[in-house]
This record gives sequence, structure tokens and C-alpha cells, in this order.
Amino acid sequence: MNRTHTNGQLRLADVGKKVTLIGWVAKRRNLGGMVFIDLRDREGITQVLFDEKLTEEVRNVRNEYILEVSGEVIERKDKNPKLATGEIEVKAEKVTIINSAALTPFIIADDTDALEETRLKYRYLDLRRPVLQQKLFTRAKIVRTMHEYLDANGFIEVETPVLAKSTPEGARDYLVPSRVHPGSFYALPQSPQQFKQLLMVAGFERYYQVARCFRDEDLRADRQLDFTQLDLETSFLSEDEILALTEGLLKKVMKDVKGIDIETPFRRFIYEDALNRFGSDKPDTRFGLELQDVKDVFAHSEFKAFAEGLSEKGTIKSLVVDHCENYSRKEQDKLIDLAKKNGAKGLVVVKYENDALTGSAAKFFTEEEVSALKARLNIKNGDMIMMAAGDWSKTCFAMGALRSHFGKTLKLFDPNTFDFLWVVDFPMFEYSEEEQRWKAEHHPFTRPMDEDLPLLDSDPSKVRSYAYDIVLNGYELGGGSLRIYDCDLQDKIFQLLGLSEEEIRYRFGFFIDALKYGTPPHGGLALGLDRVAMILTGSESLRDVIAFPKNANAKDPMSDCPSTVDEKQLEELHIQIVK
Ligand code: AMO
Repeated sequence: MNRTHTNGQLRLADVGKKVTLIGWVAKRRNLGGMVFIDLRDREGITQVLFDEKLTEEVRNVRNEYILEVSGEVIERKDKNPKLATGEIEVKAEKVTIINSAALTPFIIADDTDALEETRLKYRYLDLRRPVLQQKLFTRAKIVRTMHEYLDANGFIEVETPVLAKSTPEGARDYLVPSRVHPGSFYALPQSPQQFKQLLMVAGFERYYQVARCFRDEDLRADRQLDFTQLDLETSFLSEDEILALTEGLLKKVMKDVKGIDIETPFRRFIYEDALNRFGSDKPDTRFGLELQDVKDVFAHSEFKAFAEGLSEKGTIKSLVVDHCENYSRKEQDKLIDLAKKNGAKGLVVVKYENDALTGSAAKFFTEEEVSALKARLNIKNGDMIMMAAGDWSKTCFAMGALRSHFGKTLKLFDPNTFDFLWVVDFPMFEYSEEEQRWKAEHHPFTRPMDEDLPLLDSDPSKVRSYAYDIVLNGYELGGGSLRIYDCDLQDKIFQLLGLSEEEIRYRFGFFIDALKYGTPPHGGLALGLDRVAMILTGSESLRDVIAFPKNANAKDPMSDCPSTVDEKQLEELHIQIVK
């Protein structure tokens, strides 16, 4: 084809040039015997003018037809400052209709009121919208920058299998039945965790991969079933060195993609402090509104709602929001629901009005408690005080959810800031009430802190690990850790997680064996690439930065997947569907 310029290219300086453009018809208008057509390609939009001589040729042209237009660049009378090419237009001399188009189910434009379901069903049309194309361009730029940085820092890109043995990352596996081995299954990787560690055993020292991961878990705006990680692993580096490498990577991404200089090193928060202060292991620190501990204020309280919080493993956390004079009962009930939904047993809400504490719970507080509370929380008239008591982490998380709620509803932060931070020193284990056993907080390959090793036998709940998460604006961007490189310790951790000797051999035998052959100290991290792209493009959902995502219902409405398969395929795989 004879295209000379893209539709985003022409400027006033090009006036007088003869050009040929190709593009989709974004809009047509008939005006005083002339036809104006906006021609769109991935680079932009250019207005084309067809005068009386040519109107007949474009008589049937509708939106989304593809045209090739040759003509002269002329200055526009009514300039459009919203368009990069808005000062010129092309006066058509010749037009070829390259393809026609059926009427689209929605108009292809940045702003759309089409339902997301319709957009996903016709995703190829949705992806024609410039705003989505820009997001995918940005995503590609992020990936390119990451490749450049890692290459410059001696990382080698290695691909690992997609059909593999199950890796424990805490979600359910997607299983793929083997035709050749009846009754046996591959698992799609939840991450390349074991493979990248084996690459360290093999001596590669610095590995990375843009890796597709698969997790069968409930979807949220920041979760997909298949998603992409920038996965990396290194040998012989300290935790500080790994964090510094990651900071360098994100600094370059922010500079190259957004033109923003971010400061490094990032702030580091110890897990326990992050929970105490922000009620989250991925705190949004773009605003204050920190939680405050009031357990000691109520140390002698008889108030039933506080009883569990006063136990050894309990806490009482508070949050104070000002100017709440008009906060209604109904709104307060919603806060109570929110706290409960996030794990609190309940929420005490009181207000301070006319120099007195009001609300149904106020009568349970002694005068001393009220004055201690006032001093601790710096209470003034108009304040609303929320308090929750109970198990330490549950209470912190519940109050953290309230903090986030107020952060958003009171617009306490500037959406254009990027606040990177680390959360470090995660606990090694969390106790699962449901399964009545310890589970790995990160994954079972994470190395416990040397000084906490004796606690493995006495109190696993107190064991901290060399695990770290990178957090941006309240999202967990990525996580990683130093790894166990001693097969006996690895074996012990598997046992602590409730795996029997047979299970350990069956599931991880190859891995424990590998650790016996001179394993270097190693560690790494994985960034959720989709999340990085989501935040850097200011998107609300991962679906905006993934070309063909699943909907909230774990389906692809375009190809209607998942779907049933032929009886014959099932037979080959030795599978029977139980109705
Ligand atoms: P983790 O499980 O924390 O660590 O995952 C790393 C990062 O991947 C992203 N992520 C997701 N993104 C979209 N949809 C999902 N369902 C999803 N799940 C996770 C998050 C998360 O921070 N093997 C370890 C890494 C390591 O230890 O090196 C791992 O996978 O941004």
C-alpha cells in the first residue's frame, strides 16, 4: 500500500504536501455538499475533506470502513485543539475503499457507555478504541524497559514449562489431563518458583522471565486467572542487594514510561508496624489517618466488646475521623458492616460532641478512660471515633479496610502520586483455622530468619522470614524472598506445613534432592506485570491492560470459554463428566 504518513503525524509544517493515509472511518459528517471523515489508525486521527467531486465515491461509506485516501494537506479553518493533527486536514483527491464494515455494536471512541460484557464480547472492537490501545502501548513499553534493565544488569532470560508439576502458591491449580498417561495430570504453573530456584542450583546466577502464571482463585479487579509476572531470581545477593536491584528497575520504568523521577531507596516498613499503623500489609501511605492502639487505655475495662482485645494475642485499635457531626446512624451501620465483612467481630462507634462522648457505647466508658482516650487520640469536637477489639491481625486488617474506605471517600490522596514502599520481615507462617494447620505466608521455599530458627519448634507463629513485598499506592505490586538452600531445613518446613514424608517425597522429592548438590544462597522476586501496567495507566481494573481478559465471572464472553468439549476428546483423555 502507498501510505506516506500515519494519522497522528501531520502538522501545520506539512501544509502543501501530497500524502496518502490509510485508516478506519471514526466519524463522518455531511456539511454543505461536502463530506468530512475522521480517519483513525493506532497513531491518531486525521480529518479528511471530500468536496463535491468525491462525495459520490464515499456516499455509502460508514463508520469502521477502511479507506486509503490521497490528497493535499491544507490548513484547517476551524482548528481542533483536542487533536494532535487538529490544525490541518487532508483535502482528498483520490479514495479507495479497502474494506467495508458491518454496523458495530458500539461506537469506537474513547468514551463509551457500552456494557463491559458487550465490550468483552467484541473485544477486537473494544481494542480499537484509542484509549485502550494507548494502555497496551504503555504496557509494551514497560516490558521493553524491563528487558533493557535486566539485560544491562546481567540477567539471562530463560523460559520454563507451562505443563509442569504443581507449585504451591496458595491458590488452586489448573490441571491438564495427560492423554499418554491415563489418570495423570500436569498443573499449569502458579508461578515458575521451583524452576527458577533450580536455575540457581544450575548456576545461572541471574535469571528473569516474563512468565505467564495460572491461578484458580476468585477474581477481583486486580486479579485474573491467567496473569503475567516479571519473575526474577539471583544467587549470592543479600536481601538489600535484591531490593536495590528492584528499586533500580522500577526507577527506570517510571522514568522511561512516565517521565517521573522517583526517589530510591524506597521506605521500608516492618510487617508488624505496617499492620499496627495502617492495618494492611500493602498500605497506601499517600495519606495519614493512621490507626492507634488503645488497648492500654481500656486495660481494666469491663466492656464486653473489648474483652477479646484485652487477651494476650488481642488488640484494640482505633481510627478517628474529623468533621463527622452529620454522620448518620445509617452511615455508621454501614461502617460496622464493612468492619465485620473484613474480619472484625464488631465496631464501636462514638462521637465527640459538645465536649462529651456520645453514642450507645459511651456509657460503658469510665471518666478516666474517656480522658485517657481524649489525650491519646487528641480528640476534638466533631470527631468520630471507631474502635475494634479482637485478635491482633484480624482487628488490624478490619480497621485497615475502614482506613482505606475513608481514604477513598474523603479523597485523602492525590491520585497522581506514586508512593512505592517495601513491607519486610513477614511472618513465616499463618495459622489456618479452617484446615487447622500452619500455612506458608509467602510460600514454603521462603527462608526463615536465622535468629528465629529456634522458634520453629517452640512457637512457629513468631518465626519471621526474609520475605518482602513491593507496594504501590495500596496495591501489592510484587513479592519475593531469600530462599531456603539447605535440604534439611526445607524438609523441616514441609513437615511443619503438615506434609507427610510420603507427600514430601511425592510432591517435592526432586526439589529436595536438587538442594543436596551444592545450592547457592539465592533469592528473588516477582512483580505482577498486569498490576504495574494497571497503576501506571491509571486503570481501575487489570482488564484494561490485558488484551483478552476473563470477565468477573471467570469467562471469556468473546469465545465463550470455558466451554464443553467433544465426547471423543474426553475419551482420549480418559475423562468422564459426572452429571
Ligand atoms: P506472589 O504470589 O506474591 O509471589 O505473586 C507475585 C505478584 O504477582 C501478582 N499476582 C497477580 N496478578 C494478577 N492476578 C493474580 N491472580 C495474581 N496473583 C499474584 C501480584 C503479586 O505481588 N513465586 C512468588 C514470587 C517469588 O517469591 O519470587 C510469587 O508468585 O502483583
